[in-house]
Amino acid sequence: MNRRDFLKKSIAATTLIAGPGFLLSSCKGNLRSELMNIDKISGTHKDLDPAGYKILYYASLAPSGHNSQPWFVRIISKTHWIIGSDKDRWLRTVDGSNREVLLSLGAFVENLVQAARVFGYTAQTTVIAKDRFDPEVVTVRLLKTKATDIPLHRMVDRRTVKSHMLSRELKVSDINDFSKLVDDHLFYFPAGTHHAELMAKEAVENFKIQFDNEKAMAEAADWTRLREDDVKKYRDGLTTDGMEITGLAGWYVRHFMDNKDVMGKTFRDKGIEKIEKQVKQGAGWLVITSAGNSVTDLIETGRRFQRMALTAREKMIAIHPMTQTLEEQQGQKNIKENHDTGMIPQFMLRVGYLDRYPDPVTLRRPVEWFIKS
Ligand SMILES: Cc1cc2nc3c(=O)[nH]c(=O)nc-3n(C[C@H](O)[C@H](O)[C@H](O)COP(=O)(O)O)c2cc1C
Repeated sequence: MNRRDFLKKSIAATTLIAGPGFLLSSCKGNLRSELMNIDKISGTHKDLDPAGYKILYYASLAPSGHNSQPWFVRIISKTHWIIGSDKDRWLRTVDGSNREVLLSLGAFVENLVQAARVFGYTAQTTVIAKDRFDPEVVTVRLLKTKATDIPLHRMVDRRTVKSHMLSRELKVSDINDFSKLVDDHLFYFPAGTHHAELMAKEAVENFKIQFDNEKAMAEAADWTRLREDDVKKYRDGLTTDGMEITGLAGWYVRHFMDNKDVMGKTFRDKGIEKIEKQVKQGAGWLVITSAGNSVTDLIETGRRFQRMALTAREKMIAIHPMTQTLEEQQGQKNIKENHDTGMIPQFMLRVGYLDRYPDPVTLRRPVEWFIKS
């Protein structure tokens, strides 16, 4: 190791240890508000009405694994679209079965359906994919109807939150509200209960397994956007802000580390430390289950998750999906042994109240980038 590398690694270690609480007033502005200013969404596309463009913009604010945004939209006509699964955006190592791709597409569909109502359309959706790897997944037909007043800001303001969760148990009324939105496919395990402890342990164990897996790390590195130029160029993936590496640590990582460093020991060690700290915080775990594993089940489950996630901010509840347990063989095996068949966990979510809800930071590709005419 030369002197520059040594210095680089030592500073990285120190700043990463300082973690998210350090210098919260980050050393840069929020690119999300700069590049995706809501007032700027008067964009157009030759095959879409202005309302159609906006509906797809709101749909694209959906969450996705690694912020891979695995969707494309084929425009058949102004009121007939096909939502597709973009194979160049699949996470072939950690999500080899495309389970998370379809959950993410489900979240996209939910935003689309809700946004369509606001612009005076009922979006009729039909799942057409038979297989998890089919490129065309859901057809959408827009039928003119009376506009409904659904708060679009929920889509704009929703975000994943991983830090500063309080340990206070979730209120029964909040659990009941969430449960209704996911059609009762919800389980809550408060922090400190045996099951919550098991879930925390599995989250850490399976995270470590993944961090030891060179292919999984290479995939994560591929989806990591550290430099501001890359963030602007790709508008997807894992950014320092999205990973909640803030303040001086974020500044250091953005300026002195590159994607190769994501696979290095410092990044891995600090990542594990961070996860170990995170699972000790919060009100426990929510699990969203499904009865089956078909494409339709997964799209529906992604929609349910999103319905719930869209109301989390007004409840001051942070939601942090921790998916490694569902991705790794060891996690899957332990889950199978501990659950009845017919109740398949699809989302493992660490949750907790916040005192202050942070603004969204992850970027999205502009609508015209994911349209295929
Ligand atoms: C199916 C799915 C799985 C996810 N798994 C994880 C995860 O394991 N760890 C994590 O930190 N975030 C996870 N996320 C959150 C995404 O990283 C996040 O949605 C994405 O980066 C966009 O950020 P946003 O939710 O703040 O808009 C997951 C999201 C989805 C939809």
